[in-house]
Amino acid sequence: MKIRKAVIPVAGLGTRFLPATKAIPKEMLTIVDRPTIQYIVEEAVTSGIEQVIFVTSEGKSAIENHFDYNFELDMVLKEKNKISLGQELEEISNLIDIISVRQKKPLGLGHAIWTARHVVGDEPFMVLLGDDLVLNDQPCAKQMLDLFAEVQESIVAVQRVPMNETYQYGIVEGEALERKWTHQVHRMIEKPAPGTSHSDMAIIGRYVLMPEIFDYLGRTTPGHGGEIQLTDALLALSNKRGMYAYEFQGTRYDAGDKLGYLKAILAYGLNHESLGAPLKAHLKQLVVDL
Ligand code: G1P
Repeated sequence: MKIRKAVIPVAGLGTRFLPATKAIPKEMLTIVDRPTIQYIVEEAVTSGIEQVIFVTSEGKSAIENHFDYNFELDMVLKEKNKISLGQELEEISNLIDIISVRQKKPLGLGHAIWTARHVVGDEPFMVLLGDDLVLNDQPCAKQMLDLFAEVQESIVAVQRVPMNETYQYGIVEGEALERKWTHQVHRMIEKPAPGTSHSDMAIIGRYVLMPEIFDYLGRTTPGHGGEIQLTDALLALSNKRGMYAYEFQGTRYDAGDKLGYLKAILAYGLNHESLGAPLKAHLKQLVVDL
């Protein structure tokens, strides 16, 4: 089984970033020279995904427009002889086949994924969460798809976090397998209260899911925060047919958090072909001045 489709939920209100996100979607906030959502879509594309399904809500049309072709803008750029800029914009619109579905009520991440069930159909698929950026030569999604090619079962991406931060994540309890960085999932808890889990393996927003997840999502009742949680449906699925947790290689940035977003800007800036060196020189000077 090959994974062709990726669901990217973008329906969230972005309240953590107000007032910046009052009139623009949080996924359109810029990191260096492109909106965060473009990094996520590029990760999916370079990993071999053929179709992206955005789960959107009202006020998110800027995201769809970003990946669309803008005829008028193209004409203006051609008239002004800005050919390479025009080509760059065309490349974005040619990136991938994109479909949007609407999540009509903000009932939680699990409900958002369930909303995409008819477009995904009866095949395994990926989920990428827009807040989680992973910087690495080999994209996180590709690492997971390589593992899927071996195990043909659901996989959640995890990273170790300090114990006093586990309450912010879905937490996985599992057993390390012989394959490096890979664990068999035993239990999952969404945002555990302090002391209720001894695991430090936090779910990061990359999943490979078997289509059966939709049956479980359809039956999942509201959990943490009164929302339909993906983690609760994953637990039910893992009890039935097994699931892997994978400690991906790379650095993850929480672009949905103000400090995480700033760190991401610095990391992606330092990694940038032409801006990296002058930014580094500037940061060195700043440290001296501090
Ligand atoms: C979601 C998931 C959570 C996961 C996190 C990763 O939570 O529900 O299990 O650990 O993403 O970013 P959210 O951050 O949307 O509250």
